Amino acid sequence: MSWRGIVRDAYLSLPERVQVFDTTLRDGEQTPGVSLRRDEKVAIGRALAELGVAVIEAGYPAVSKGEFESVREVSRLGLGSKVCALARCDRRDIDQAVDAGVDWVHVFIATSEIHMTHKLKMTPEQVYQTAIECVEYARSRGVEVHFSCEDATRSERSFLLKVYKGAAEAGAHSLDIPDTVGVAIPLVMRELARSVRAATGLPVAVHCHDDMGLATANTIAGVEGGAEIVHVTINGIGERAGNASLEEVVVALKYLYGIDSGIDLNRLASVSRMVASFTGMQVQKNKAIVGDHAFSHESGIHVHGIINNPYTYEPIMPEVVGKRRRIVVGKHSGTHAVMEVLKQHGFEVSFEEGKRVLSKVKDYADNGLRLTEHLLLRLVRDDPKLVSAQPFEVVSFRIGVDDNGFSSDIEVHVKGESIRGEGRGTSSVAASIEAVKNVISRVLGPIDVAEYSVYVPPNPDRYPAEAEALVRFNGVTLVGRGLAHDPALAVAMAIGGAVSQALAEKGGHVK
Ligand code: KIV
Ligand code: ZN
Repeated sequence: MSWRGIVRDAYLSLPERVQVFDTTLRDGEQTPGVSLRRDEKVAIGRALAELGVAVIEAGYPAVSKGEFESVREVSRLGLGSKVCALARCDRRDIDQAVDAGVDWVHVFIATSEIHMTHKLKMTPEQVYQTAIECVEYARSRGVEVHFSCEDATRSERSFLLKVYKGAAEAGAHSLDIPDTVGVAIPLVMRELARSVRAATGLPVAVHCHDDMGLATANTIAGVEGGAEIVHVTINGIGERAGNASLEEVVVALKYLYGIDSGIDLNRLASVSRMVASFTGMQVQKNKAIVGDHAFSHESGIHVHGIINNPYTYEPIMPEVVGKRRRIVVGKHSGTHAVMEVLKQHGFEVSFEEGKRVLSKVKDYADNGLRLTEHLLLRLVRDDPKLVSAQPFEVVSFRIGVDDNGFSSDIEVHVKGESIRGEGRGTSSVAASIEAVKNVISRVLGPIDVAEYSVYVPPNPDRYPAEAEALVRFNGVTLVGRGLAHDPALAVAMAIGGAVSQALAEKGGHVK
C-alpha cells in the first residue's frame, strides 16, 4: 500500500528517488561504548556498498591516526558507493579528510545561538565567514562538498538560510539539515527542507536524531519537503538515542510513498545482524523491520488470520527484508506449527506426537494460561510419553573461568550414546560453542555455526535466555533454538537443535 496519491494531493514535492547517506561508521560509531576495529569497519563498508547505499560516511579522520587509516582503507576498497569523511570548518580537518582519499567531504559548523556562544565562542558573522571560506577551500581540493549547519533546527531561521545560501554560492554540492539534538517535529522538518531547497536550488539532506523518538518520522517529513538525501544508520545507532534507522526509513519510503532508495531490501536483516554483532548493540526485539518480533505472531486471532493470509496482520512479507516469520505456539496453532517449533529445539516429532502435544497445548490455553515456548518445552520434557527423546540432548554443562579465559565442559546424549567435549574461549558463549562443535564433529563431521544470536532478558531469573543458531551442514542451513537460564547453555542448545535436524536428515545415524 502507498499513500503517494494522498501526499501528492497535499501538494508536497516528493522526489522520485532518494539517496541513502549512511553514517553508521561515523555517527553510529559515536554511540556510547562503541568502538569498531579497522577490519570491522572495512567489513561493514563492504556490506553497505552491497546493500546499495549511495554514500558511506566512513569516519572523522581528524579524530585520531587510527580513524584516518580506517577511512583511508574504506576509500581504497573501490566500492560502488561514494565514500565521505566528516570535517569541522577547519583547513586541517578538511586536508585530513581529503588526504584519506574520500570522494565527499562533509563540512559542518554550528549555527544555533547556544552552540555559537557556548561552544564555538564566535559571533554569527564569524561563523558565516568561516563557513564560506571552508566550503571554498574544500571545493578547491577537488572533492564533492556536503555542508551542514550543526544544530540547524535550533538556529534562528533567517541566519540559517543566510549560511546555507552562502555555502551554496561558495560551491557546496549539497546541503544537510541536522536535527542535532532531536527536537524537530515532522512539520518543521518538512518546511525546513522545502525552504532550504527553494533558497539554494541544491540537493538537500536531512540528519535526524531520535531523542524524542521522532527520527524516522522527521526524516520522512524532510523527504516530503523535497529532501533527496537521507542520513541514516543501520539499526538506528548513533549519538545518545541514535539516528534515523536505515531499515525503517527505506522500507517506509518504498512501501508507504513508492520512493526508491536503491537499497537491496533483502540484505537488511543480515547487515543489521552484522552491525549488532560488531558494535555489541543488541537490536531491541520489537524494533520495526529488523527486530526479532517484527514478524512473530502469538497465538490468537492474529495467528489464525496469518495462517489464512499473512497480509491480514503483516504490512510486508518478512522475506522481502531477509527475515523469517515466526509463529509462537498457542491454542490456534496447528500440528505442523507445533512440530516446527519442537523440531527447532531438537525434538524428532512424528505427526501423531505433534497432535498429542497440540491437544495438551489447547487444554493449557483453554484453562486461561498463556503458553510460552519455555512452557511448551517443559510440557514435553515432563511427559516423556508425549514425544520420543531428543536425538541430541545436553545432559550436563559446566562453565569455568581462569586467567586464560573461559572453559566449557559439556556432555550430550546423541541417540542415546554419551559424548563429552571441551572448549575454550574469550567468553562463556564462545567456550560453549567450541565445546559443542567438538562433540558434534565426532558425530556428524565438521559443521559451520554460520550465525547465532542470544537474547538475555532484563529479568533472567524469571525469563530464560533465548538463543538462535544457523548451522550449515552438507550445504544445508538449519535453524535451531535454545532456551536456558544461562546464555552459554542456550546457545549450545540452539546448536543442538539444528544438529538434531541434521541427524534426522542423515537418517538418524551416528557417524
Ligand atoms: O548531529 C549532528 O549535528 C551531526 C553533524 C556532524 C552533522 O552529526
Ligand atoms: Zn548526528
